[in-house]
Amino acid sequence: MTQTVSANAPEASRVLIFDTTMRDGEQSPGASMTLREKLELAELLEEMKVDICEAGFAASSEGDFQCVSQIAERSRDMVVCSLARSTLTDIDRAGEALRKAARPRIHTFISTSPVHMKHKLRMGENAVLEAIGASVTHARNYVADVEWSAEDATRTEFDFLCRAIDVAIRSGATTINVPDTVGYSHPAEYGALIRRLIETVPSSDRVVWSTHCHNDLGLAVANSLAGVANGARQVECAINGMGERAGNAALEEIVMALRVRRDSLPYETRVDSRKLSRASKMVSSITGFPVQYNKAIVGKNAFAHESGIHQDGMLKNSQTYEIMNPEDVGVPSTSLIMGKLSGRNAFRDKLKSLGYELEQASLNDAFRRFKDLADRKKHVFDEDIIALVDDQLAGAQERMSLRRLKVVAGTDGPQTAEIELVIDGQPSAAQSTGNGPVDAVFNAIRSLSPHAAVLELYQVNAVTEGTDAQATVSVRLSEAGLVATGKASDPDTLVASARAYVHALNKLEVRRSKALPAD
Ligand code: KIV
Ligand code: ZN
Repeated sequence: MTQTVSANAPEASRVLIFDTTMRDGEQSPGASMTLREKLELAELLEEMKVDICEAGFAASSEGDFQCVSQIAERSRDMVVCSLARSTLTDIDRAGEALRKAARPRIHTFISTSPVHMKHKLRMGENAVLEAIGASVTHARNYVADVEWSAEDATRTEFDFLCRAIDVAIRSGATTINVPDTVGYSHPAEYGALIRRLIETVPSSDRVVWSTHCHNDLGLAVANSLAGVANGARQVECAINGMGERAGNAALEEIVMALRVRRDSLPYETRVDSRKLSRASKMVSSITGFPVQYNKAIVGKNAFAHESGIHQDGMLKNSQTYEIMNPEDVGVPSTSLIMGKLSGRNAFRDKLKSLGYELEQASLNDAFRRFKDLADRKKHVFDEDIIALVDDQLAGAQERMSLRRLKVVAGTDGPQTAEIELVIDGQPSAAQSTGNGPVDAVFNAIRSLSPHAAVLELYQVNAVTEGTDAQATVSVRLSEAGLVATGKASDPDTLVASARAYVHALNKLEVRRSKALPAD
């Protein structure tokens, strides 16, 4: 099988990494990202040398339109893509949003499986083929780089799938994506499908073949790699495997599998793997979705060795129990522990090694907060510093912030919270009781900033070990279809809870004012 990979992939062995964290990833139930957070993530993706960033679905909302257009305007080398259904109006919105992109792509799709065509689209085969021709042709009026996806491809009849792809290629599609939309396929089957399509569809060598695998059976990464081994040269994936239901193929796993197993998977990506850990932390912090401890590549335990036999082996030679170096994914092997005696320069160096370059005022603020934390906590670990800085960056520019909190808790209720917030620069204070200290804190905040939002999630994680560990609290609020997640860290769980709640309210306020809908 020969395949000439066009436009975006100069070498036949190169696999393009298409990140969909901001589009399919944001469709994870409960995940939502603000414009500012998406811009920050897009910048990191560009730095990491991700090839294509699916920045959103421009026609779905004004918020998504703004995200796509602002990321498009700022991007340099990375292709910026907007999703569009097969309607002319969707494609017009995508084209408009991408107007300022250096390298724009429109990604248009329609379902091709019998179950989707009958029940979802209520369209017959001919109407679907017509829609494919019209949508791809229209997208080519805006951009030269057009991706077409056969939604639910793995449950589509093979002959019809070939006809649909043929129409897309003849109408000008440059990338053909074969989604396993419902995560139903398995590696041998998915690999064979990609191979057979490339062998059967006319002019298949003129396009880049792409995988888009969902993880409902836990096979998304394995299926994507099977696709690559059989001719696909683009993998659609998301950081931390975010995405609809069980998610998408995890970007970090795809990149590292291709890197570590080059012996039998002779393909490469351009991605700078040393930024994977940072990207994972950023996405987790933005969405409030914790990364499971034993998650491959980026989990807290991915490079931790517990048993005596393993530790002994590691001390003799790290290759005994490690197939990759932690540094290769951005995890420093030896962690310099910072404490209250650490100075400003050491702190600045530490921030740099963790991937942060702060301006002077921001650095001063972070250093002051670090000293404050070091006074209360014996060892300040990298994770503490990351939580502290992420928290500070998230807190900047917010309308409302916490100034003071005092809580009375214990067996003799009622639990009471006295709180002082600064709202639009003005201090205001309140006192409330509640069914437990967290409830008292949230009631006090609600009395100062009345709202109808419903608390959907309240989650506490320890950033590091020990009873003096910082707590990271995530709070998710929803109100009339709008969803916002707030996150904050502090050694005092109640302070972190108050700040996370305030952070979520600030985000909700932004969403309200822009009328950004739920994901
Ligand atoms: O899963 C899917 O089929 C999708 C398409 C829109 C590419 O996300
Ligand atoms: Zn998907």
